[in-house]
Amino acid sequence: MNNDAVPKVSDDLWTVMSTATAVRRYRDEHVSDEVLERCLLAASWAPSGGNGQPWRFVVLESAEVRALITSAAHRTWEVMKEFYRLPEIVDGADDPKSRTLRTMSAHMEVGGAAPRLVLFCVQPQRGTTELQQAGSIFPAVQNFLLAARAQGLGAAITLWQDACAPELRDMVGIPDDWKIATLLTVGWPKGGHHRVRRKPLSDAAAVDRWGRPWRTNE
Ligand SMILES: Cc1cc2nc3c(=O)[nH]c(=O)nc-3n(C[C@H](O)[C@H](O)[C@H](O)COP(=O)(O)O)c2cc1C
Repeated sequence: MNNDAVPKVSDDLWTVMSTATAVRRYRDEHVSDEVLERCLLAASWAPSGGNGQPWRFVVLESAEVRALITSAAHRTWEVMKEFYRLPEIVDGADDPKSRTLRTMSAHMEVGGAAPRLVLFCVQPQRGTTELQQAGSIFPAVQNFLLAARAQGLGAAITLWQDACAPELRDMVGIPDDWKIATLLTVGWPKGGHHRVRRKPLSDAAAVDRWGRPWRTNE
């Protein structure tokens, strides 16, 4: 049977998904445990290989761990500036590239002092590839991000943990057989939410053959 009826999607969900951008600037305002818990709960609803749920979401609060994250974020910025040969940020420059650089640099300057920090860890299952391991944690990350956006929060994925992994593992007591997937910063956004900017769907989706774009009305 060919049923061409298009089911209605939740407008709210559609809005949330299409505006869940990385948010790196936060108001100096507390994010309550209740609000954060909704995000953690949504993360725990994510799919994982064999429903193994090989994850742990660690909310980082102590002054000691926050200081460690801040120094890791500072080091990350220094490495990025060199690796990408980033230009010095010119005072007052208002082009999109300068604005993004300024926001990223400010995010890393604040580092571990962001209102909330959540570490996502995964326990690799026997015989799984790294891609499969990532597949059992990043859906939880995305659920968290969507639940954050649905409540008006902003959040950003970071890899700052890579700049302090041994100390962080030690401080948090992460078992040797677990990996750290990402560190999220979370807070009430300064400024509003805007639509994600992505390539056209015809670049991403195909029919039958790699080079045959999906017939989109987008
Ligand atoms: C695996 C991964 C690693 C990322 N690492 C960082 C990061 O270290 N710092 C950061 O500010 N954003 C990071 N991001 C966020 C991306 O930069 C962001 O999602 C992308 O530029 C799209 O921007 P948008 O989400 O605002 O639309 C990461 C995202 C992913 C999926």
